[in-house]
Amino acid sequence: MPEQGACTVVVGCQWGDEGKGKIVDVLAENVDIVARYQGGANAGHTVHVGDGQFVLHQIPSGILHSGRRCLLGNGVVLDVLQFFEEYDALLDRGIDIKGRVGVSYRAQLLMPYHRYLDKAVEDSAVTKIGTTGRGIGPAYEDKAGRRGVRVADLLAPERFAKRVDAAKARVCGRLEELGAGTEELDRAMDATFALGDRLLALAADVGKEISAALAGGRSVLLEGAQGTALDLDHGTYPFVTSSNTTAGAAAIGTGIGPTSITDVIGVVKAYTTRVGEGPLPSAFEPEMDEHVRKLGGEFGATTGRPRRCGWFDAVLTRYASQVNGLTGIAVTKLDVLDTLPELKIATGYRMPSGKVREFFPADTWSLSEIEPVYETLPGWQAPTTEARKLDDLPRNARSYLDRIEELTNAPVRWVSVGTQRSQIIPV
Ligand code: GDP
Ligand code: IMO
Ligand code: MG
Repeated sequence: MPEQGACTVVVGCQWGDEGKGKIVDVLAENVDIVARYQGGANAGHTVHVGDGQFVLHQIPSGILHSGRRCLLGNGVVLDVLQFFEEYDALLDRGIDIKGRVGVSYRAQLLMPYHRYLDKAVEDSAVTKIGTTGRGIGPAYEDKAGRRGVRVADLLAPERFAKRVDAAKARVCGRLEELGAGTEELDRAMDATFALGDRLLALAADVGKEISAALAGGRSVLLEGAQGTALDLDHGTYPFVTSSNTTAGAAAIGTGIGPTSITDVIGVVKAYTTRVGEGPLPSAFEPEMDEHVRKLGGEFGATTGRPRRCGWFDAVLTRYASQVNGLTGIAVTKLDVLDTLPELKIATGYRMPSGKVREFFPADTWSLSEIEPVYETLPGWQAPTTEARKLDDLPRNARSYLDRIEELTNAPVRWVSVGTQRSQIIPV
C-alpha cells in the first residue's frame, strides 16, 4: 500500500490578504489537489503568472497549474453566478480548467437574495462590520438556520424551487422591513436557476475524493480564505466573517478527518493590514499608513477598498500559531519593507491600567484601548526582490525574520519577496 499522502492546510494568520493565493500557487506545483474549505466570493486571492494577474474569488489558487484538481468543499458558500463568471473568465484566458474543478454536493448555495440582505443589513446597522457585500453572513445564517439549499438539492428541482421560494420570501420580508429594494433580484434568480444543470455537472463527493487521493499517496492542499483574526469564534468578534477560517475548519469544510492533516502553514504578511471595520492595534500613524499602503499596493482585491496598515503584530501571530497548530509559516511581502529605516514589532498590549498582556484578548473592545508595546529593529534598506535563498538576504532582514519566528513560535518555511512565482525563498 502506498504511504498516506501529505495534506497541508494554508491558513491566513492576520486579517486576510496575507498573500495566501501566492503561497498556494507556489505550493501547488507539488500537489495533486487544492481545495477551498470555507468562505465564498468575499475572498480575493491574487496570483501572478508572468505578466498575467489573476484574482480568484471562489476557484482554488491551484487552478493556474495545469492538471491540478481544484475542489470547493462543503464549508464553502457558493455564489453560482459569480462562480461561473470566474470559471468562464479563466477559460477565456486559456486556462485548461475543463474537468479540473469539482464542487461538493454538500456546499451551500449563496443565492442572490443573500447579497441584497447583506447590503441592506450593513446599510442600516449601528455597528457596521464593513462586509464585502457578497452575501456571506446571510448565507451562513441560512445554513445554521437549516433553511439553506445545497448543491445536492439541485437533484430534485421541484423541491429545490420550493425551499428557495421559502428562504427568499423570508429574506424579502426582512428587506421590506429595512426599506431596501429588490430591483433586478428576480432576473438574478432566473440566471442562477439557469445554471443549475451546469453546476450539477461539476458536483463531486469532495471528502471521498480527497480521502482516496491521500490513501493513494497523492498530496493535497487545503486553502483557507480570510484569516485567523476574522474567524467567527477566534477572531475580533463581531468584526469577523461568518465562517471558521482557522485550520480546524479545514477538515470539517472538506469532509476529511482531522488526523489526515499533516502540516499547517500559516501565511503572515511582514507587516499587518486590515480592510473593513474593527480594531487594528498596531495601526500606523496616518502618514506612515499612506506610505506603506502605496509601497505594498494595499487595496482590497475584492472591493478595491484601501487597506489600513500597521506594524507586524506578534501578539496576534503567536495566538494564530496556537489556534491553528502551525507547523510552519510563510512570510510574505518582505520586499515591501526594503526602504524603511527601522521596523517595529508589537510584542505585547499595554492595558489602560498599565498592565502588559502578551496574549490576544477575547474582549475585542479592549483592543481599541490598548497601546502596543513595540520592539524596534533596524531596517535593511536594500532590495530583497532578487533573493532566492536566505543567505542572499541582508543581515537585518534575516534578523527581522528570526524575531518573527521566535515571537510567533513557528518556524519560517518560506519567504516571499515579490508577486512572481520565482520570488520565493524556501527555508
Ligand atoms: P490573499 O487574499 O491572502 O490571497 O492576498 P491578496 O491577494 O488579497 O493580497 C496580497 C497581495 O500581495 C496581492 O496583490 C499579491 O499579488 C501581493 N503579494 C503576494 N506576495 C507578495 C510579495 O511577497 N511581495 C509583494 N510585493 N507582493 C506580494
Ligand atoms: P481573503 O481570502 C480581507 C472582511 C471584510 C469585513 C469582514 C466581514 O482575500 O483574505 P464578509 O463579507 O466576509 O461578511 O466581511 O471580513 N473580509 C476580508 N478581509 N480579506 C478577505 O478575504 C476578506 N473577506 C472578508 O472586509 O471586515
Ligand atoms: Mg485577499
